[in-house]
Amino acid sequence: MPHPRDFDVIIIGSGAAGLSLALELAGTLRVCVLSKAGLDEGATLYAQGGVSAVMDDNDSIESHVEDTLIAGAGLCHRDVVEQIVREGRERIDWLMRQGVPFTTQPAPAGGVEFHLTREGGHSARRVVHAADATGRAIESTLAARVHEKSGLVLLENHIAIDLITLGKLGRTPDRCVGVYVLDRNAHAVRTLRAPVCVLATGGAGKVYLYTTNPDVASGDGIAMAWRAGCAIANMEFVQFHPTCLYHPKAKTFLLTEALRGEGGRLLLPNGEPFMERFDPRKELAPRDIVARAIDHEMKRLGSEHVYLDVTHKSPDFLLSHFPTVHSRCLEYGIDITKEPIPVVPAAHYFCGGVVTDVAGRTSLPGLFAIGETGCTGLHGANRMASNSLLECLVTAKSAARSILGQRSEFPTLPPVPDWDESQVTDADEEVVVSHNWDELRRFMWDYVGIVRSTKRLERARHRVQLLHSEIGEFYANFRVTSDLIELRNLVQVADLVIRSALKRKESRGLHFTLDHPEPDDKNYRRDTILRAGDFS
Ligand code: FAD
Ligand code: SIN
Repeated sequence: MPHPRDFDVIIIGSGAAGLSLALELAGTLRVCVLSKAGLDEGATLYAQGGVSAVMDDNDSIESHVEDTLIAGAGLCHRDVVEQIVREGRERIDWLMRQGVPFTTQPAPAGGVEFHLTREGGHSARRVVHAADATGRAIESTLAARVHEKSGLVLLENHIAIDLITLGKLGRTPDRCVGVYVLDRNAHAVRTLRAPVCVLATGGAGKVYLYTTNPDVASGDGIAMAWRAGCAIANMEFVQFHPTCLYHPKAKTFLLTEALRGEGGRLLLPNGEPFMERFDPRKELAPRDIVARAIDHEMKRLGSEHVYLDVTHKSPDFLLSHFPTVHSRCLEYGIDITKEPIPVVPAAHYFCGGVVTDVAGRTSLPGLFAIGETGCTGLHGANRMASNSLLECLVTAKSAARSILGQRSEFPTLPPVPDWDESQVTDADEEVVVSHNWDELRRFMWDYVGIVRSTKRLERARHRVQLLHSEIGEFYANFRVTSDLIELRNLVQVADLVIRSALKRKESRGLHFTLDHPEPDDKNYRRDTILRAGDFS
């Protein structure tokens, strides 16, 4: 292959987390960034609302911490929340220095200041944004900076298959030493080695039929870490965003929570507001409450959607603050300045993931996980809006510090066997992959969605076990393809979600089960941690 096989650091993923880390390390270490699609494709690109950070003199770190703890329903790690929230302002300054064009407004004392929006759970305006396309502004700016760095190796259309560990090579002590990667253009598997590998692969929304997530969100990092023996936490806490555009032709398009932050109301099909029946914070209650309220009303009325109405705002305001939402809705014949928008909830964010500290260190030496792939303890049982990009930025910065601190101890890399394709052939029936992919996503939606029950979870567990063995057999016998790699990972992630949900016999945050509708602090005010070898 034309590029070196050995690096100091391999970063798998090129969203906000991966690219921020790459920029911190470039020039000091030999860094390779892998992206399974184009460099900018990932959840970051589609983020609308913004990045939460305390920027206003009337706001405080304590208030941001408290709001995060309340949304997290008793499971946030306070020390982690404090550490991440404290670094918000510095990370926004860093993004500004990279050139991210955040929205500003004239300041009362002259000059300009950030325009701050408000979202669910936040008791103050503290969301820094670039109109309603904040993710695009961040991702394209970071991608431009990365392209300017010499010495960074960027491998687009390269999908990581599995981590290479000393344990898998029959050696102790265990350590991550590289990764097998499918070059999607050349249809060849490469072996890349490095003393440090970083999973920055984002979330796993594609495990559900309806999701706000892009196609790349198939939980690859979580599944790879699990197979490498890492602990995985809190997978039952899947966040469903309350408001995605409902339209037969729209592939789920998010309607940012900032619309509700600006006073948008949720309405039943007959035009009646309903959120006050569920929570005194109404439309700005934390997402779990809003999504469940919508789900409840849709089921009660047999309706396919509810409405989000922002017509109280002037057309000028809507066009300048929400240009993306406005133009996308118009494509489907909906003018948000004149009429309410049909909306439904969809899978949006995984609060769980690979267990890490704030620096992204996992339980496996040589392996880090940052951004949505990791589970630092920031989000607890429910992520507060716009805390995720903040976490990406802070964990990337802390990981860089930790990796640079370890560099004098990087071990010599061991010989690693190349990928062995001698025993496999091309797949005879691609339909096995496409059929199982559809089946998985549908039963996860029906049985492991916003409202769960033990019976539904048991049904899902039975089905996922069948898929596990069918895909395992397929994987052992046929040449790998991107679809097969992703489906194998999705099945693994689904299994982790179901097992975690079955373990939590209470309702808390994003996990709601009809069989145990109340929280049970005595027995369950703790993380759900799964470890390899635990088959319960
Ligand atoms: P991503 O940005 O998802 O990037 C993942 C990267 O990993 C991609 O480059 C992908 O190609 C790569 N990858 C994955 N698997 C592999 C593999 N096997 N091999 C090689 N590469 C791989 N959060 C907020 O804080 N504020 C918001 O306003 C906000 N809005 C959102 C709107 C939408 C529509 C969505 C979907 C999410 C939103 N979120 C928001 C959540 C937030 O965007 C994500 O949590 C965050 O961007 C994740 O960043 P990341 O770097 O961890 O992963
Ligand atoms: C949104 O803009 O509503 C998404 C914000 C988030 O997921 O943090």
